[in-house]
Amino acid sequence: MAKTQYTCVECGYKSVKALGRCPNCGAWDSFKEESPVGRALAGGSRGGLAKVRPLPNPDAVVRLGEVDPGGETRFESGIAELDRVLGGGFVPGEVLLLGGEPGVGKSTILLQVADRMLRQGKRVIYLAGEESPGQIRLRAERLGVSGDLELLRETELETMLATLEAAPPEFLVVDSIQTLETASAPGSLVAVRDATSALTRFAKAHRVTTVLVGHVTKEGVVAGPKVIEHVVDATLYLETAGNFRVLRSTKNRFGPVGEMGVFRMEEAGMEEVANPSEAFLAERPVGAPGSVVALTLSGERALALELQALAARTPFPAPRRVSQGLDSRRVDVVLAVLERRLELPLGNLDVYVNLAGGLRVFDAGLDLAVALAVYSAVVGKPIPADFAVVGEVGLAGEVRSVEGLERRLREGKRAGFERLLYPGVVRNVEEAVKRLI
Ligand code: TYD
Ligand code: MG
Repeated sequence: MAKTQYTCVECGYKSVKALGRCPNCGAWDSFKEESPVGRALAGGSRGGLAKVRPLPNPDAVVRLGEVDPGGETRFESGIAELDRVLGGGFVPGEVLLLGGEPGVGKSTILLQVADRMLRQGKRVIYLAGEESPGQIRLRAERLGVSGDLELLRETELETMLATLEAAPPEFLVVDSIQTLETASAPGSLVAVRDATSALTRFAKAHRVTTVLVGHVTKEGVVAGPKVIEHVVDATLYLETAGNFRVLRSTKNRFGPVGEMGVFRMEEAGMEEVANPSEAFLAERPVGAPGSVVALTLSGERALALELQALAARTPFPAPRRVSQGLDSRRVDVVLAVLERRLELPLGNLDVYVNLAGGLRVFDAGLDLAVALAVYSAVVGKPIPADFAVVGEVGLAGEVRSVEGLERRLREGKRAGFERLLYPGVVRNVEEAVKRLI
């Protein structure tokens, strides 16, 4: 008697029909049939089955003190910048999604990781769905990857899983999740979701650390990102930042989020940039107005970065405010403070503010640098090149304390900046301007 019901796996919207697109959240192909039995067991239906209750599980409740903490079983990838983002290394059975635009270097870095794993004595399987084994061999040889790497050429999900079940590896790379074939069209939301769930079950059952590659389209999403992100343990994104590649985590069940790993794409693959401050400051135009060095924090790591501002006269009544790599709302507030508290005339100027090097850092500690760079650009006087600055700016123009100040100052000194301007040394933006400009 009970009717079949369909539920959107993205948002939980219920319908009597499977809809192509969810009217509630807009997801495509997201309806899944919910069986009357499933609903009855969930306690929701009027059917007779609602009274069926499973036997209680005697092990369902356990005292916290008796839980086995599992111990520290991580293993390092051997690539320090990656381990930093992972939170110290991979965890056995962990499932990770590595997202990024085509060509950013996902396959390259994973071949390099696979090689490190092989050299640690682990068995590694690389599912080659994107490129032919011949292409992979050519690239792998260039990267110096061990010939012991096993390539899996099967992209039909069930067959592939059966092959893996027969002899599970310790480390698995699936390149990419969008190439796997299921009953649904490859790359579709349902296919990606089903493949991710099946691979996650496999990874957990056999404690296989698994990295799923997911292409991000120009619009900036992996097909079905919400579905995947819910299922996997960690989501990493690789993106281009100027001449660099930056790896970040947006979710990590076994580690921090907000950490950043910096790489450079070289002839021999992805090379770590162990000293990002120096790398990002390398092209700094010393002595140019509008340029200042800021001490920022990205995850646990402090960085010295160049911040640039440019001001240009405009005939239009609404001047442009363009910021790159920064929180534009914070930049707007700093500009308002400069106009109102320091009487800097910005009314007929377009203002551009840019974190040099292509990085994106949303950090209140960059406020003071924004204020000084814009002031310097407007009045056309440079800021001394041996200064590095940090501080949040309040609405009254006061310079406020920031998170991780000690770490930032240490990084400033390490990067060679003798003179530092920070909360406590200056009380407000006006004093900072008097000191530097
Ligand atoms: P790739 O890893 O194939 O990107 P993705 O898997 O994210 O699509 O990297 C593609 C680009 O990287 C390609 O344009 C060539 C370049 N590349 C190098 O510069 N050096 C190298 O050692 C390798 C392997 C690739
Ligand atoms: Mg690739």
